[in-house]
Amino acid sequence: MVSRRGVLTGLVALGAVAAGGQMLSISRDSRRYAERAAALRVPFDPSHEMPSLVRFATLAANAHNTQPWRFSVSEGKGGPTGITIAPDLSRHTPVVDPDDHHLHVSLGCAAENLALAAEAGAEREVEVAYAGEAEGVGITLGRAGSAVASETTQALFHSIPKRQSTRSVFDGRPVEASDVGRLRDAADAVAGVDTVIVTDRRQMTQVRDLVISANTRQMSDPAFMSELEEWIRFSPGQALEREDGLYAPASGNPALPAWLGELLFARVVKARSENARYSAQIDGSSGLAVFFADQSSPDGWIAVGRACQRFCLMATALGMKTAFVNQPVEVEAFRADLSALAGMKGRRPDLLLRFGYAPSLPYSLRRPAEKVMA
Ligand SMILES: Cc1cc2nc3c(=O)[nH]c(=O)nc-3n(C[C@H](O)[C@H](O)[C@H](O)COP(=O)(O)O)c2cc1C
Repeated sequence: MVSRRGVLTGLVALGAVAAGGQMLSISRDSRRYAERAAALRVPFDPSHEMPSLVRFATLAANAHNTQPWRFSVSEGKGGPTGITIAPDLSRHTPVVDPDDHHLHVSLGCAAENLALAAEAGAEREVEVAYAGEAEGVGITLGRAGSAVASETTQALFHSIPKRQSTRSVFDGRPVEASDVGRLRDAADAVAGVDTVIVTDRRQMTQVRDLVISANTRQMSDPAFMSELEEWIRFSPGQALEREDGLYAPASGNPALPAWLGELLFARVVKARSENARYSAQIDGSSGLAVFFADQSSPDGWIAVGRACQRFCLMATALGMKTAFVNQPVEVEAFRADLSALAGMKGRRPDLLLRFGYAPSLPYSLRRPAEKVMA
């Protein structure tokens, strides 16, 4: 007869074998993940111009990495004449973004990448314009060879595959005033957006306290937490299958089997520990940037996305990292305080990010060009 202790030992052994198997598959999938992330970031290939342009566009920052876009190319007699980036509303996040504000900012980020790649990679003149609610952004393309990209455009273009949102504690080093000026100039090239850069420690601490209060509010909202969890990819296998969402190691967390990640998310991720993390992250940053559109409308939000993407690409070119801390932008009750701290009373703040110096974290995935082209 098998003893009770024998049964227990057997179950523990089975559990250990299962856990060992899962850890093995995580390490195998992590290698596949790293290969896929690197393949998305190979240099621009002029012999596959349209898929390369779309691939470079999709490498843009976008909220929750939902990739809320559909690309369509218009062809004329002499080749492509334009690309539109339409909103994919099936990928919106109604709880955190009820008016599709972040969705339009994300389209703007993608449009800016596309414009830079068209000019510097494909040597085409470009014009970016809002095309309407359903159409999104229209990018008109000149003929190949019609443009010579400036040094700045080249630098931003080469940073597209290197940029990432780095959600770690930066090393606190200050940024040279001349580099702060270059960040500002990069963003200011887009009309209709004001960028406020904060490097004063006292002001940064005040913004940090707003981030923490807004984060506490968000984390006490079950609908917010459930929508966020929907977009978290705990394991590399999950991330590879979906090719979207927030991959845990890209936020500085370990890769875990999906079931374990879900269990820990519900039991371990609490406002107190997350707030301590945000506090350290803001204290270790060299500065913060707040973006304000002149017009609070999809048109204005797209312009903010373009300006912010240029800011992040310039930071990358200068060896810096950026990460968003949008809580006081997302929770309406905190917007007025953030605007007042930034000296922009009465304006709606559109984005809040931090910048500084830090090593890279794993890159996030994207759906390939063929899956997002109409
Ligand atoms: C409009 C917008 C809002 C965002 N908000 C946040 C945020 O509040 N917190 C955060 O950690 N990342 C935020 N992000 C960053 C995205 O999660 C990130 O761009 C996406 O996961 C892709 O990763 P990557 O930027 O490393 O390529 C935001 C990005 C955009 C464009």
